[in-house]
Amino acid sequence: MKKVSVIGGGTMGNGIAHVFAMSGFEVTLVETKQEFLDKALNTIEKNLSRMVNKEKISESDKTETLNRIHSALDISEGVKDSDLVVEAIPENFALKKKAFEEIESAASSETIFASNTSSISITKLAAVTHRPEKFIGMHFFNPVPVMKLVEVINGLETSPETTKAVMDLAEKLGKVPVPANDSPGFVSNRVLMPMINEAIFCVYEGVAKPEDVDQVMKLGMAHPMGPLRLADFIGLDVCLDILNVLYDGFKDPKYRPCPLLVKMVNAGKLGNKTGEGFFKYD
Ligand code: 3HC
Repeated sequence: MKKVSVIGGGTMGNGIAHVFAMSGFEVTLVETKQEFLDKALNTIEKNLSRMVNKEKISESDKTETLNRIHSALDISEGVKDSDLVVEAIPENFALKKKAFEEIESAASSETIFASNTSSISITKLAAVTHRPEKFIGMHFFNPVPVMKLVEVINGLETSPETTKAVMDLAEKLGKVPVPANDSPGFVSNRVLMPMINEAIFCVYEGVAKPEDVDQVMKLGMAHPMGPLRLADFIGLDVCLDILNVLYDGFKDPKYRPCPLLVKMVNAGKLGNKTGEGFFKYD
């Protein structure tokens, strides 16, 4: 594989484009508006400069990486020569369905399709296309340039060849791929989200203040970020969506979202991206 298209330049998409380009792949980043493309490219430039300042890469590595990132405002234009398409658009099945229909109409029949979804069933997304054997989940973690894990999720019909190709590819990015089968929340969010939800229940029930809940998990369990700051970092709306997927998928009350989380999302307090969640941000 040499050419990769990344659909969506948001937090995850720009990070995914960054790591592919840094590992020598030609990347086409597809967005719906020029201002979104400019924002994504600015973020990549800023994160590469941070790596230059930390002497992890040279100034010429940064320039070469940026030169390998091309952009497109149209899916058909952006995917036509790609070996792999990684979709990283918002967590909405209808939007992803529409995107994969467009992607399939322009991509080669050999192209592998991957979704960076954090919660939507890979089997269900694969069924939108005519190539479920070449469809897989490639779940990256935020911040993508830093986090080592890629959770590789097999849909019901993903072929062993596709899994092997994507596992090998993730290693070429310097990541550690871990396979999982399609199931609500996969492994990562099935384990992470109940912890975050329980931390929110602690605040809701007055057991401890947000900063104290986080301090317990940072100092007692050596987590780099407390669960509430992490929830703000991920986005409280995203956490709620994932908990709902777990709750609906397993029909088990242990996954019911805390009413405080629902209330905060309804109030538009979504975490870092809106400037306020459990904590305030500039
Ligand atoms: N690009 C490149 N490098 C970056 C970066 C970025 N976007 N963000 C941070 N870094 C680098 C910094 O330069 C620094 O490098 P150094 O070790 O050489 O000094 C290093 O990462 C640590 O960054 P900082 O010193 O700025 O800050 P911290 O030490 O507080 O670390 C953190 C920040 C890496 C975000 C750390 O707090 C952490 O690991 N937090 C947990 C993150 C996590 O759990 N992510 C998963 C979220 S779940 C998810 O994404 C799945 C979804 O489905 C919900």
